[in-house]
Amino acid sequence: MASVESISCSSTFIFVFLAVFSFILMKKCAKKKPLRLPPGSMGWPYAGETFQLYSQDPNFFFSSRQKRYGEIFKTRLLGCRCVMLASPEAARFVLVSQAGMFKPTYPPSKEKMIGPWALFFHEGDYHARLRKLVQASLAPEALRRLVPGIEAAAASALSSWQEGRVVSTFHAMKKLSFDVGILAIFGGRLDERRKKELRKNYFMVDRGYNSFPMNLPGTHYSKAVKGRKRLGEILSDIVSERRENGDAVENKDLLSSFEEWRSDEGEKLTDNQISDNIIGVLFAAQDTTASALTWIIKYLHDHPKLLEAVKVILESLRMASIISFTFREAVADVEYKGYLIPKGWKVMPLFRNIHHNPNFFSKPHEFDPSRFEVSPKPNTFLPFGNGVHSCPGNELAKLEMLIFIHHLVTKYKFEVVGSNGEVEYSPFPVPKHGLPVRLWAAEQAAGSGGAACRKHPTA
Ligand code: HEM
Repeated sequence: MASVESISCSSTFIFVFLAVFSFILMKKCAKKKPLRLPPGSMGWPYAGETFQLYSQDPNFFFSSRQKRYGEIFKTRLLGCRCVMLASPEAARFVLVSQAGMFKPTYPPSKEKMIGPWALFFHEGDYHARLRKLVQASLAPEALRRLVPGIEAAAASALSSWQEGRVVSTFHAMKKLSFDVGILAIFGGRLDERRKKELRKNYFMVDRGYNSFPMNLPGTHYSKAVKGRKRLGEILSDIVSERRENGDAVENKDLLSSFEEWRSDEGEKLTDNQISDNIIGVLFAAQDTTASALTWIIKYLHDHPKLLEAVKVILESLRMASIISFTFREAVADVEYKGYLIPKGWKVMPLFRNIHHNPNFFSKPHEFDPSRFEVSPKPNTFLPFGNGVHSCPGNELAKLEMLIFIHHLVTKYKFEVVGSNGEVEYSPFPVPKHGLPVRLWAAEQAAGSGGAACRKHPTA
């Protein structure tokens, strides 16, 4: 009996040993199996699919690839190997839950032009410190103080849109969002001469920012480099003037919070850190808000019966998805859903695809603000991004859009001239030619019909 027991005992032992051994071996083999890259086309050498991205309708470029390859696919843009991710979970993975594995990344020429100390190029303590200052200066209490200034800027933008003259909406909105950016940064305490100087040099930088980065005399790029240098000098002068006048402590605005900041060791922000961040905030604030406003005006024109302004804004941000995606770079090899995202590859959560996915927004190509009567599901509505780099200016942008639309629809009538539904990039998508619009004061147009906007016969 004893020997039978010992035989069965040792065979159990051998069985357990073999099972454990083969399990470990299987796991080892499984680990060794190389992960696959996501499906997709890398396009032409170097350029990859850059040309297609900027020549096709943005909805088509992204959705055709998603249809073909699924929610994760690879491509090459501007010489960089990229993985595009089109699901809410993936956006959360990259921007929130595994944000440490993905760092912000921008082309070196853009980093140089804005200034290397701007917060969005950074991570860790420096980023957190700067972000806190920006967020505090754009908190609800601070925004409340800005309302009269934004009202004045909106009224001035509309009144300078001379009666009956056709104007590029995007152009007019760029001027408005620049003025509101200046207001948020300097708290309305900048004299006209300084504002004019900043505007002139800022727009030189803006024009060269997206041009080919070759510093040859006479090119937009070389003018932008000069404009950028001058901007830095003007900002340093403003900081010195404020220090001399000693008024920074009483009046809180973004510039004064940059000036007053001290680390525990008493260290201050340098002049370069301050000016790079001011220019950074202006850049982050301007084209984004101007493109969004241009789309809102187009949708208001196409759907004249819509009135609930907040939902119109949200639905416009969804439909237009002006920031179609953002970029990060994998800091190590990362596995996602069985695919490899290799170290050094760019990773792009595709906000546009998520916003246009019928599983999250029914009939996604129909403009329907009433869908925002119910809050969207988590991570499905990301016009302002998500996680540590999400937009700290989102409330200011919404306030500016609300105030402008209020003035537009209550005091003016407008018509879109020659819109054919085409899109151009400036650098965000906007309606072709910036949406040419003609505007009248409401009293003058009262005899010509009651609606705030009407379709031009050629539209
Ligand atoms: C409709 C208008 C706007 C849209 C759609 C928008 C969208 C975004 C998005 C998607 C991001 C995140 C980018 C990323 O994760 O890579 C972002 C970041 C940022 N935005 Fe906005 N933005 C708008 C207006 C503004 C305004 C008005 C300001 C400032 C006054 C602003 C300042 C910033 C800054 C400083 C960042 C970088 C934050 C960081 O890296 O921590 N934005 N914005």
